[in-house]
Amino acid sequence: MEDLRVRFGDNEALHGISLEIAEGEALGLVGESGSGKSVTSLAVLRLLPPSAETTGRILFSGTDLLTLPEREMRSRRGREIAMIFQEPMTALNPVMRIGSQIAEAVRAHHPELSRAEVRTRVLEAMHEVALPEPERRLRDYPHQFSGGQRQRILIAMALVNRPRLLIADEPTTALDVTVQAQILALLRRLRESHGLSMLFISHDLAVVAQACGQPGDHIAVMQHGCIVEHARAAELFRNPQDAYTRRLLASAPTMHTDRAKPLATLAAVEGRGELPSG
Ligand SMILES: Nc1ncnc2c1ncn2[C@@H]1O[C@H](COP(=O)(O)OP(=O)(O)OP(=O)(O)O)[C@@H](O)[C@H]1O
Ligand SMILES: [Mg+2]
Repeated sequence: MEDLRVRFGDNEALHGISLEIAEGEALGLVGESGSGKSVTSLAVLRLLPPSAETTGRILFSGTDLLTLPEREMRSRRGREIAMIFQEPMTALNPVMRIGSQIAEAVRAHHPELSRAEVRTRVLEAMHEVALPEPERRLRDYPHQFSGGQRQRILIAMALVNRPRLLIADEPTTALDVTVQAQILALLRRLRESHGLSMLFISHDLAVVAQACGQPGDHIAVMQHGCIVEHARAAELFRNPQDAYTRRLLASAPTMHTDRAKPLATLAAVEGRGELPSG
């Protein structure tokens, strides 16, 4: 992204941000609510409402997505760039069997495939995300799965067409911490086996650190529509440069946090800008 700017009427939500994701790398985008994380991801897929005015450039393998005709953009969406969202229940159709939903994602980009070929791909995708008994569960509806399993179904749908970039906007926020850890481990494994690039969004630095923990991965910190810090993940945790990043780190629990006291909120550490001892 180069100088990406998004305006909703008088309100400018993104003030000209520039970010880069190399092939096979993950970029973690972290920041408080309303900082512009989702607007950034929706801009990449050109899914913002018509009221949004977007300028700048979004280069994907050298092509500026912002100048593509809608027809060409549609063929890239889901096939080259896929997205998973926060709330797996609302992203799935409640009255459609999950096998049919994954099959629909395949057929949208591969109308030439036979029924049997589509079915093979659906089963492979379900197997890949470790959904138990895929053959039997193809015919089940979303409500018959747990929250973690529903998120696995969405990941299967996102990856079934072998995209090169996966955008994950708070994909684990609705899940409890154990299931969250399983989904993050799954994403790590799939990134390795597919050579996927990933834009991973969360308000939670600890989650971003788990998702973007490979040596080449980067983290960008957003505040009020600007990128305030952008560094290699390890470097950001070792040596945060920006005062806001320091406050984010200071508001997270550590091994040394006194559990008898409430955690410091961002507002409480605001202004002090110092890191807790240890
Ligand atoms: N459709 C819209 N119309 C008008 N303003 C919008 C729209 N979508 C987002 N905004 C504004 O853009 C800003 C950034 O919103 P965004 O949804 O990107 O925040 P976020 O960082 O994803 O927050 P959260 O962590 O709560 O998901 C906010 O000020 C929001 O009000
Ligand atoms: Mg958001």
